[in-house]
Amino acid sequence: MLVWQQNASLKSFNTFGMEVKADWLVLIQDSSDLHELIRDERWQKMPRIILGGGSNVLFTQDFVGVVAILQTKGIAVLEENDEEVLVEVESGEIWHEWVMHCIEKGWGGLENLSLIPGSVGASPMQNIGAYGVEIKDVFVSLNAMHVVTGVECVFTHEQCAFGYRESVFKRAEKDRWIIKSVVFKLSKNPILKMEYGDIQKRLAERNIVHPGIADISEAVCTIRQSKLPDPKVLGNAGSFFKNPVIQKVLYQNLLSQYPTMPHYPVNAEYVKVPAGWLIEQAGWKGKKWETCAVHDRQALVLVNHAHAKGNEIWDLSSAIVADILEKFQIELEREVNVY
Ligand code: EPU
Repeated sequence: MLVWQQNASLKSFNTFGMEVKADWLVLIQDSSDLHELIRDERWQKMPRIILGGGSNVLFTQDFVGVVAILQTKGIAVLEENDEEVLVEVESGEIWHEWVMHCIEKGWGGLENLSLIPGSVGASPMQNIGAYGVEIKDVFVSLNAMHVVTGVECVFTHEQCAFGYRESVFKRAEKDRWIIKSVVFKLSKNPILKMEYGDIQKRLAERNIVHPGIADISEAVCTIRQSKLPDPKVLGNAGSFFKNPVIQKVLYQNLLSQYPTMPHYPVNAEYVKVPAGWLIEQAGWKGKKWETCAVHDRQALVLVNHAHAKGNEIWDLSSAIVADILEKFQIELEREVNVY
């Protein structure tokens, strides 16, 4: 039997720590509860949000509707041989705990995604990625339930239409599905991804010549802890903006003004530039704005310093967008979901 909390605080369910309320809050601990949720009139008739760890969301006001938090747990091996393992993970599992489980078992593929906040079910939504790996690299399929009909459906890799911080669940199928579980294929003889300069630096510091997945994970955790604020200490939602993809012509023009501007190749026509670099160049890094700020060690992250309101963060982000547009002719896109 589901417990419906009325006029409930969402403060502990969003990593920005916004003190907002939802008309109704429901915690889903067993996937069989989903049928009860979907049949409920409140769910059918009111606006609704499904959250996992609440690590990619900015609430600018109270939510008039139902917020369901997926907390379902379970990790099941579906198939296994000497080389690979196919594992189904329930959506409510905490992402980093799942990555640590893989490290303990010796299953490679997710070590570069250590310490990313959030839950397993949210990970395919925006194809989470870091240090040269994206979830699409180990993703097989996911099981989802339609938010209104309760029909269950498998989405294959292709159907998810993954892109940089993108999937079909942010586009054509937005707000239509509850992701119940995700199936991953992991390797017992993984090829490690360690091109990232900071990973190599950390391995060298520890004198590690033949690293394993645990060493890569340690390096990634150390790098993240040195740059990114811990949401338990300082409210934030990780990267607030996406790294913009711009035309090469614009990039070449900017390069003549800013010869050190970093970039990542995309294809013959486009390059990606780090939003953090643009924001820092424009002088925003570490800047305070009412009770929020641009993080002083990674300009891509906005932080809640005290009791910031969502609209203060929103206004800060809008000021940054306008300034970057004026200075670089680049329009930054927000990565977080704003309500
Ligand atoms: N940079 C600056 N100033 C800054 C931040 C970055 O000049 O304040 C420059 C760096 O010097 C570097 C470049 O920008 O040359 C890239 O910086 P970094 O390696 O920190 O990565 P990022 O592109 O800023 C992306 C992801 C992160 C992920 C890192 C590492 C996005 C939106 N963000 O950031 O993801 O951890 O790469 O792979 O793609 C997240 O999604 O929440 C997140 C933290």
